[in-house]
Amino acid sequence: MPSIAGTNVLILGGTSGIGYAVAQAALREGAAQVHISSSNSTRVAATVSKLKSSSSSTTTGDVIGHTCDLSTDDVERRLEELLTAVTSSGDKLDHIIYTAGDALSIKNVTDPTFDLAYIQKAGQVRFFAPLLLAKLAPRYLKPVYSSSITFTSGTVAQRPMPDWTVIASYSAGMEGMVRSLALDLKPIRVNLVSPGAVGTEMWGDDAARTEAMMGEIGRKMPLGKAGRPEEVAEAYVYFMRDWNATGSVVSSNSGGLLV
Ligand SMILES: NC(=O)c1ccc[n+]([C@@H]2O[C@H](COP(=O)([O-])OP(=O)(O)OC[C@H]3O[C@@H](n4cnc5c(N)ncnc54)[C@H](OP(=O)(O)O)[C@@H]3O)[C@@H](O)[C@H]2O)c1
Repeated sequence: MPSIAGTNVLILGGTSGIGYAVAQAALREGAAQVHISSSNSTRVAATVSKLKSSSSSTTTGDVIGHTCDLSTDDVERRLEELLTAVTSSGDKLDHIIYTAGDALSIKNVTDPTFDLAYIQKAGQVRFFAPLLLAKLAPRYLKPVYSSSITFTSGTVAQRPMPDWTVIASYSAGMEGMVRSLALDLKPIRVNLVSPGAVGTEMWGDDAARTEAMMGEIGRKMPLGKAGRPEEVAEAYVYFMRDWNATGSVVSSNSGGLLV
């Protein structure tokens, strides 16, 4: 049975929300090293401590933090620095998980400020950085089919919402991206998780407001609830473990595409 026990995993966006839940799950499943990164060094350090203290009694895996801001023009250089640091011990990676996402940029396409600069900025962390990561990753991942990269999109790619055009465009683009990358990077597997609404920090710092919003969204869902980060994290664990899955999409969405 394929397992992620003993593996070396990098999670870009591991300080919060879905990425944090994937880090917890990877440790629970016996990963030997879980590297997390985000743009904020204070948050990285705090998250490493939190993961270490919450998992120390049940796991033996190590947690290592890295700061890497993916919003800058020199993102390719920063990604290369991150991948070099993560593999500096000589051990290549088994899995890369990408859940990084900056503040949501929601705007109607007829808004005068919906211009090229806006479109490019909205795609920087969710689309351009993943593509550049895919370019660099083969040098840092073990070149075998047990290795994987898992990216993130969202159900807005299938189910449109007013004013979400730019996010929907990049989310749908991720599906074509992973299918093509699965061929370009073979035998490394490349897959995509597409979450529906999940109660995370992406919706803002006000936890009570997010909970109320998720309650409202959840009532319209077939399952009567929105998603939780630890539920969606299972889709990433699945892609790490299924050595037969590549170019595939798993959607974890409370049944939101059915209504
Ligand atoms: N939550 C949902 O309802 C939902 C639904 C569909 C799709 N998604 C997608 O799922 C992904 C993860 O979402 P989430 O809910 O887990 O969000 P989250 O809780 O806000 O986590 C986002 C992560 O990305 C990092 N990040 C933000 N800006 C960054 C930058 N410039 N460079 C590097 N890292 C950066 C954040 O850390 P720092 O701020 O410290 O950098 C954090 O670790 C996103 O792509 C999101 O669009 C989420």
